[in-house]
Amino acid sequence: MAGTDVLVIGGGIVGCSVAHALARRGASVLVLERDHPGGRASATAAGMLTPYTGGLAEGPLLAIGSRALEEMGPVAEEVRELSGVDPGFVRSGALRVAGSEREATLLRDQAAKLEDYDVGWIGRDELLEREPGLSSDSVGAVWSPREGYVEPPLLTRALEGAALRDGVRFERGVPVQAVRIEGNRVRGVQTPEGDYAAGQVVLCAGAWSGLFEESLGFPIPVEPIRGQIVELRRSPGTGAPIVWGLGAYLVPRQDGRLLVGATEERVGFEARVTASGVQGLLEGGCSVLPEIRKYEFRCARVAFRPGTPDDRPLVGRVPGVEGAWLATGHYRHGILLATITADRLARALLEGEAPVELEPLDPARFKA
Ligand code: GLY
Repeated sequence: MAGTDVLVIGGGIVGCSVAHALARRGASVLVLERDHPGGRASATAAGMLTPYTGGLAEGPLLAIGSRALEEMGPVAEEVRELSGVDPGFVRSGALRVAGSEREATLLRDQAAKLEDYDVGWIGRDELLEREPGLSSDSVGAVWSPREGYVEPPLLTRALEGAALRDGVRFERGVPVQAVRIEGNRVRGVQTPEGDYAAGQVVLCAGAWSGLFEESLGFPIPVEPIRGQIVELRRSPGTGAPIVWGLGAYLVPRQDGRLLVGATEERVGFEARVTASGVQGLLEGGCSVLPEIRKYEFRCARVAFRPGTPDDRPLVGRVPGVEGAWLATGHYRHGILLATITADRLARALLEGEAPVELEPLDPARFKA
């Protein structure tokens, strides 16, 4: 087939974001997806946008996570207008609840370091005003009013729709087997349907990215981290915050769904919901919000996060291979970071300027 400017491997939220960001800047883009776009981790994730309470605050991802949170409003609005799909962005705020004085001391210190982001410590009375059903053991919480959530399947569909509007082509049911390289230049990819030509290839295969290590001749240390998540239902209402407890997090939806997540398991690609996984999540959820015992149990789901040895994504060019790019390894923050990493990667790929935010994500850190 005729060559494409850029070929994207994988149509999850990162692949759809990359395709949209490239096409918006005028590139001709083809996405090859082995199933259907957004069918895996992007369909299962809780969609938290929590760079501060969700654990990025300690490391080099804070700047990009914080920026991503601030950009989500305009991004959600843009893709909604282009696609007609509302990604369900809600700035609900997030609580990280302390269940003991010892935990409170640690969390107070964390909150103090995040004052510039409107994050602060609240005592028990204010905490119970924000989420009245919390356990009587709760002594206080980190409160982060700017954080919130999206509905990941809707955001992925909105990005796919926006990409289609910009002329991106999607081929479903096409599993890419290898990246084709001649000399030190990308020539395209190999699939069971035949070869596809492309001058640039962006690998967005999530937990499966390591499969391309051999053909790229470069380490891609991405491993699947299984996450199980439970969906409950309570009365619909607006305004409930995200709640982080010690054993689980709770993510509301305005229609009454409540997600309780998530396990972190190294079991390869074993796609099973387990009794012990669900038990642990329900116990963790009950210990922070006891009334969930009364909620309707809807279902439990499982997906694979793309984990990396330093918990940082791999975003940027593959050293030594002209035309090869990675946008993968987003681990627990794929929904938050997908659109910002796509935007900065598109800039690097098409304009030759690697934005400073990508420096901590540079794949070169794993060069042998
Ligand atoms: N983003 C939350 C999780 O990976 O469980």
